[in-house]
Parts: sequence; C-alpha cells; structure tokens
Amino acid sequence: MRVLFVSSEIFPLIKTGGLADVSGALPAALNVADVDVKCLIPGYSAVLDKVENQTYLGTLQVFTHLSCDLILGVIPNTQVEVIIIKHSGLFERDGGPYTHPHGHDWADNPMRFGVLSKVASLLSLHQPFWSWVPDIVHCNDWQTGLAPYYMKQRGLTQAKSLLSIHNIAFQGNFAPHWIQSLELSPQDYQLNGFEFYQQVSFLKAGIFYADQLSTVSPTYALEIQTEAFGFGLQGLLQGRSADITGILNGIDTDEWNPAADPYLPDHYSEKNLAGKARIKTTLQEALHLHVTDKMPLLGVVSRLTHQKGLDILIESMQELIDLGCQFAILGGGEKSFEAQFLAFAENNPNQVSVTIGYNEPLSHLIMAGADIFIMPSRFEPCGLNQLYGLRYGTPPIVSNTGGLADSICHSDEVSIQNNTATGFVIENVNRMSLLVTIKQALSRWNDRKIWKKIQKNGMKKEIGWKNSANAYIALYQKLLE
Ligand code: ADP
Ligand code: GLC
Repeated sequence: MRVLFVSSEIFPLIKTGGLADVSGALPAALNVADVDVKCLIPGYSAVLDKVENQTYLGTLQVFTHLSCDLILGVIPNTQVEVIIIKHSGLFERDGGPYTHPHGHDWADNPMRFGVLSKVASLLSLHQPFWSWVPDIVHCNDWQTGLAPYYMKQRGLTQAKSLLSIHNIAFQGNFAPHWIQSLELSPQDYQLNGFEFYQQVSFLKAGIFYADQLSTVSPTYALEIQTEAFGFGLQGLLQGRSADITGILNGIDTDEWNPAADPYLPDHYSEKNLAGKARIKTTLQEALHLHVTDKMPLLGVVSRLTHQKGLDILIESMQELIDLGCQFAILGGGEKSFEAQFLAFAENNPNQVSVTIGYNEPLSHLIMAGADIFIMPSRFEPCGLNQLYGLRYGTPPIVSNTGGLADSICHSDEVSIQNNTATGFVIENVNRMSLLVTIKQALSRWNDRKIWKKIQKNGMKKEIGWKNSANAYIALYQKLLE
C-alpha cells in the first residue's frame, strides 16, 4: 500500500503545533508497519536545511504560470522519505510557515497552499520523472484541503483521498478572486462545492470532496457534527457522518521519554521517580522561582489563544498564588494573554515564571519538572500535551472535551481504587470549575502515596503510535475496497 502523506508542518523539520508532531510520528509508525509512505511538504528554508540525502526529482508544471522543482530526501532520525516542493518565491522566507515575522498571515497563503494541494494531486498521477504513484493521498487540515478537489476535478487519478481534520476552527477561507489563479472551476463555486459563505474554503473543499474523513479523537468526531463545535461545517459533516472516523493521536515515545530525554538534566521512569524531583529543583532554579518541594508547581505549555481556555486560569491565578502554587508558563499568541501572564510574573517572581515564545528544550523541562499540567481548553481536537503529561508523571488537569475527554480519567475514589485515575477533569470551562478541580488535585498531591499511584497509572498507559497507526491502516484498507 502506497500512501502520500501531505502536511504543511512535520517535526523535526518545522513545527507550530501538534500537527507537526503527528506528521512526524505517524508516517514513521506507518513505515514500521510496512506501509510504503512518503511525505509531501513545502520547501520552507528550515525544511531545505534539515532534510537529509536530497536529490532532484524533476520539475512539475503546477499551474499554467507556475512550476516548481521537487526534491526527494529523508526526514532526520527516520527512514521516512519526504518530497519537498522547492519554490523560493513562495516558501523560502523569514517568518513562520503561515505568518510574516510581524505576525500577520502571508497574503499569498492561498497560492502557497494551493500549490501544496495541487502538487499532491499531480503526484497521484504517473509523472515522467517518477513512477511512485500512491494508492492513497492522506491530507491534513485546510492547507491540503484542495487536494481532494483537484484529484476529482481532473478525474484521472485512481488514488483515493483521506482528509484528517486536526482543527476545524482553521478553515482557509479566502476571497473568490482566488478561483482564477488557483485554476478552480467556477461552476464548483457553490453549495455543492468549495464555496462557503461567499468565500473559497480550502477545508470545506476537503470535507466535500475527500473519499473519507477522519479527526484526531472519537469525541471530536462527534463534536464537529454539532453547532457548538462545527464552526459552520456541522451540516455538511452530518451529511457525511458515515465517512468520518475518530482516531486518537499517539505520541512519539522516543522523542518524549523521561528515561532518556536529552533536554533533561536527570532521568526517571515509573519505577523510580527520584529524578523528577531533582528536575523540579533545576526548573525552579532556571526560572528563578523559590526553590522548594513544598509548593506545587503547575505547568503550562501552550498557544495562548481563546481555544486553550487560559483566560480562566488568568482569572484564577491570584487565588492560586495565595494558596501557595507556583507556575511555569511557556507560550505565545494573543498579546492580551501574554501581558496578563507577564504581569503576574512581575508581581510574584518567586511563584510565577512566564516565558513568551517557542522553546523546545524548556517545554520538555516544564513537562518533567512540573507537578501538574494545566489544559482547560474550550475545544481540543486531540491535544498532545496532556499525553506528554501522562508520560512524564505530570498528571494533567483538562476540560471535558475532544481528545482530552478521551485520554484522561478523573481521579476519584473509584478510579484511584482501581488504578485507572490519570488526571483531573474540569466539568465546565469557567473559573469556579477550574478552581474546584485544582483544589481537588492539590489535596491528592498532598497525599504522596495516592499521588504516586496517579502518576504511575499515567506513565504506564500505552500511548505510543502503534494502535493508532493500525487504525489508520484499517481506514486505508477500507478506502481501497
Ligand atoms: P495545538 O496543536 O492545538 O497547539 P497540541 O497539544 O496538539 O496543541 O500540540 C501542541 C504542541 O506544541 C506540543 O508538542 C507542545 O509541546 C508544543 N508547544 C506549544 N507551545 C509551545 C511553546 N511555546 N514552546 C515549545 N513547544 C510548544
Ligand atoms: C491541532 C489540535 C490539537 C491536536 C493537533 C494534532 O493542532 O488543536 O488538539 O492535538 O492538531 O492532531
């Protein structure tokens, strides 16, 4: 079975969030399971710098007025081959994969990801320079949403398409004038097509034209079919409900392994947690917090956006500081969240540390050194940090939604008794609920025997990619039947 896995970010080449983690780890797991998988990614400068064994494949006419070179290489530390779309004008820029260094979206994102989608569709056909034709084109998120459309538009391909939705809030909706330059057919600009509220919608196109759909947790698969979570696409999704599968993400257990993590000054496992206590000290020192094992240290590593619900943490912070909690916060996003967190740090330097920006080593250090991880998301398609929290013996406090609901079991008398307790679930995303739940967690933390039990339950959980990769393989097989 040949699978072309198309994504706008792949760890360790380029990453803005969990999509990169999944796009790095899932193809590697598929490869181990003998699926013939190759990735496709835009040739951002970071990608061109990091991909190994690069060879020129050929030049592809993508649109009438646009061609690009294709390069084949290997993703570092894996056996997975990746095809890079090289077009210096579109992809080799300072800034992020989606944004200008000043933070605004690149104005030509429709063209940049239109090219990604179109190349995916062209690679599903035999090309003069390249005989590897996929059976399945596995698309991810809006950036690849036009690929299933282009595959159907030309009608030449035998390949089937799967679109995985990692976050339905990001839809890639753009002004209709892009129809012409993206060489879309004007007659498909309609309800039964890629039109969505008078815009060209990449994600809607994917949902409408893909042969199968998946989301990154079973609960989110149901949630996106409701008005509260569907961001306007719930009706279309209800119509395709038989074609939607929810598969919970796994994690890369080599990259996230407290027993061998190169970012950590010390190591530990579920059998011996002593190293974790020493890492807490290192973390407190590094962040200039008061060094003590008496105060619970709460960690946050997150995009600071409305989705992540951290405004309710901001509303609760003073009370938690007064209760003697410490905070290690790492993230970036909405300026008002950043400013409010920074103000707490300034006024409480012994108890609150806030680091704005993206910092891979610190994210691992917080995951290991914190006692508790906080993730009160309003919606969370899957979420990976709560899974890293399980693996690192840092029980997460999560909201009752999406992949959080599917991966964390609330610690109450029954679940503690039968060893299924792994974290804490807040009932509603509001200040009161969060405070009540954090206080429950703190009282468990004060009972070191019970706390250790909760930590170990999480650390023992099978959360690698094997099971989820098998679920994707079953879905690919269904597509080929
Ligand atoms: P999302 O993709 O919605 O942001 P996930 O929980 O799926 O949420 O994945 C987030 C990923 O990004 C995790 O690997 C997390 O560790 C990482 N991450 C988020 N913010 C930062 C940051 N400021 N520095 C380093 N890593 C971060
Ligand atoms: C998105 C979601 C997140 C999920 C990730 C990987 O970024 O917001 O919940 O874990 O994709 O699937």
